[in-house]
Amino acid sequence: MLRVIHIASAYVVQFTIMKKKVMIANWKLHPETKREAIKNFRSIKENGKKLRNVETVICSPFVYLNSLSDEVSGHRVQVGAQDVFYENSGSFTGEISPTMLADLKVSYSIVGHSERRALGETNQDVANKVSALIAQSIVPIICVGEQQRDDTNYLSFVKDQVLSGVAEIPKSALPRVMFAYEPLWAIGTSANRSATSKEAQEMKLYIKKVVTDYSSEYGGRVPILYGGSTNPDNTEEFLKDGEVDGLLVGGASLDPDSFTEMLEIANNVTKKLKNT
Ligand code: PGA
Repeated sequence: MLRVIHIASAYVVQFTIMKKKVMIANWKLHPETKREAIKNFRSIKENGKKLRNVETVICSPFVYLNSLSDEVSGHRVQVGAQDVFYENSGSFTGEISPTMLADLKVSYSIVGHSERRALGETNQDVANKVSALIAQSIVPIICVGEQQRDDTNYLSFVKDQVLSGVAEIPKSALPRVMFAYEPLWAIGTSANRSATSKEAQEMKLYIKKVVTDYSSEYGGRVPILYGGSTNPDNTEEFLKDGEVDGLLVGGASLDPDSFTEMLEIANNVTKKLKNT
């Protein structure tokens, strides 16, 4: 029964998602205690659940997912994983499977984050993870992005990541995935700078073209987010001028007040766009 409810909720998420901005918190290796994780989640949820135009997802370390999924009520603030393995059982020490995540009512999982790719994750690993997640009705958030902008191959590099990411799923499953464009030079504490909204918009349009060329029927329904040094000061610019469907937020999501401010901005941007 629980499983049926979970599958139904994944479809509700997909049905409503394009009309809302999607704001994903990537907590990375934070916070240090379960107590703090629950406290921060509750604080974000209290505010996030009132915002009708935003889908909020908190991607926490695996060890907190069980406790946080118990805190989920309604669809507006969900729980996500930061990674997953592509097999559902077997001799894979240390791994976490899609079925385990589904059992905890986890609705989303980041895959192919550049910090995982830097530890050896390949495009084929990402494709296998995406396929295994789709089979459990968990939405994969596929991270793509180039190392450097001055590399003349950056568009074909991202195109390869996009197409290989969805190579193991049927085209009809495309509306159940998301892409997050995260240029490596704009991510985390060592970032040189965030992308400009124009750079984010350019890549959003490019990824949209790549997926619609791949499937004219389904490609246009894939949300494309931006991530890399986002904060309350640049949220509106990325969502409005950059025209991205949402943000994947690292550092700024660790402070519930900052992240809540970003959610409120996202909610207002969507409201204004709906009225234009
Ligand atoms: P940042 O991280 O917002 O701290 O740059 C984004 C990410 O790595 O997903």
